[in-house]
Amino acid sequence: MSFHYILLSFHVLLTFPRIHGQCAFNLHHLTASSKFPANCSQIFGRFTVDQTSGVTDAQLSEIFANVKEIQGVVQIWNTQFTSVNFLKTIERLTGDYLDKSLSIVNNSRLTSLDLPSLVKSNGKLEIVNNPVLNLRSQCSTFHSAFFNRRSVSGNEFDCGCDLIVPFKWSSVKNFPTGCVVLYGNLVLEGSAPPVEVLYRMSAVTKLYGNLEVKQTNLETLGFLQNLEEIESGT
Ligand SMILES: *[C@@H]1O[C@H](CO)[C@@H](O)[C@H](O)[C@H]1NC(C)=O
Ligand SMILES: *[C@@H]1O[C@H](CO)[C@@H](O)[C@H](O)[C@H]1NC(C)=O
Repeated sequence: MSFHYILLSFHVLLTFPRIHGQCAFNLHHLTASSKFPANCSQIFGRFTVDQTSGVTDAQLSEIFANVKEIQGVVQIWNTQFTSVNFLKTIERLTGDYLDKSLSIVNNSRLTSLDLPSLVKSNGKLEIVNNPVLNLRSQCSTFHSAFFNRRSVSGNEFDCGCDLIVPFKWSSVKNFPTGCVVLYGNLVLEGSAPPVEVLYRMSAVTKLYGNLEVKQTNLETLGFLQNLEEIESGT
């Protein structure tokens, strides 16, 4: 016990000044000359790479080589990257649970993304409109790190589809057909969407979120005929 206590105090003393000093970057636009001190395994800030950054994935891999945790946000927007490997050492993406800790948007040539070390995030995942990005190999990583805190769409393969709003007619006009794995809370309340929209859900086999049916005019839940599993998270 006391040995642990001493170790813990030692750790806190060492890391605290470091965290709030040289490892904090606020808003940081990544470029080829970005540099984090070698002893910053945990960095703080908002880190952005976009069409103006003039940096390659290989250069970023060197810049991030010693980083294991990012407290804040990583944004990869509008780049010409074909692969993103520079986050390969990242184990934790933490920060504001209302914010997106990882946002990958509008990367028209991106085909692969590798986050082999990621175990946990308490923020949200956004991966939108990367038309040639196939996420299949990352599905289980994203599932365990983000569960249904995600907005993932418009990629070649999305690891499921998302419900980010209550299932109301006005908000689900475009609910996709053929959605097998559904992330989000399915809340059916009040007057239900038209039957043809409800039956677009008949492909769903797994719901990662809550199912709530209250005060509706529904006469059947037959449109959920293939639903096998509901997991409501931790
Ligand atoms: C990290 O390196 C800098 C510069 O050498 C030093 O001032 C600082 O004390 C180091 N921090 C830790 C936690 O090792
Ligand atoms: C992505 O592209 C869409 C459509 O062009 C645009 O509205 C949006 O602002 C872009 N997002 C980012 C993060 O650049």
